[in-house]
This record gives sequence, C-alpha cells and structure tokens, in this order.
Amino acid sequence: MLTRLLHRLAQALIVFGVSTGLASAWPMPKGEGLKTLRKECTRCHALRNIVNADGRARAEWEKHVVDMTDIERRPEAMKAVVDYLTEHFPPGY
Ligand code: HEC
Repeated sequence: MLTRLLHRLAQALIVFGVSTGLASAWPMPKGEGLKTLRKECTRCHALRNIVNADGRARAEWEKHVVDMTDIERRPEAMKAVVDYLTEHFPPGY
C-alpha cells in the first residue's frame, strides 16, 4: 500500500518535472544572453511572459530590464540580455 503510494508520487513528480522542463525550454530561441535571461527573469515569472508580450524596441527593453532587475550593474550581462531581447522580440514580432 505504502509502496504503491510512493510509486504514484514518484510518477507524478516525473510527469511534473518533464512538463515544466519542456514548457520553459520550448519557446525561447537559442542565443547569447539566454542563460542570463533565464536566470534573472525567472526569479519572478515564467519566460512565457516575454514570449507572450508583443515585443519591444531596444530602448524599451532596456528600460524594462532596468526596472525589473539590477543586471545593469553588470554591463556585459546587460548587453547580452538586451541584445537577445531586441533581436528575438522586436515590436510586434
Ligand atoms: C522583480 C520581479 C521581476 C523580475 C526579476 C522580472 N520581471 Fe518581468 N514582470 C514582473 C511582473 C510583476 C510582471 C507583471 C505581472 C505578470 O505579467 O506576471 C512582469 C511582466 C513582464 C512582461 C509582460 C508584461 C509587459 O510589461 O509586457 C514581460 C515581457 C517581462 N515581464 C519581461 C521580463 C524580462 C525580460 C525580465 C528579465 C530581464 C523580467 N521580466 C524580470 C516582475 C518581474
């Protein structure tokens, strides 16, 4: 009885892990900056927020990133993230 319960629990965890893993990996195009973005931006919400938004011009992404994180203190990381967002998520992309 207990074994069966544990088995079910393990199964549920595996299914959960696989589905959340896919969901976060699926929509984002590869590119420099993605690693930092993934780390910084998922502290508060899913990357899906970025994919689902309408896209922005560079200056708007910059403002957004500064408002939400303190990546601007690391100019290289900041540039990589803003480059990535500008390239892959321009206005109305
Ligand atoms: C300090 C918490 C926090 C961090 C870190 C954060 N966000 Fe957000 N973000 C929010 C909140 C709160 C919202 C609005 C509520 C929602 O849509 O979940 C939001 C919404 C968004 C949206 C959709 C709404 C809009 O304004 O178009 C985008 C796009 C977005 N964030 C991009 C980013 C990016 C890119 C990063 C990383 C550079 C990031 N966020 C990091 C808190 C955060």
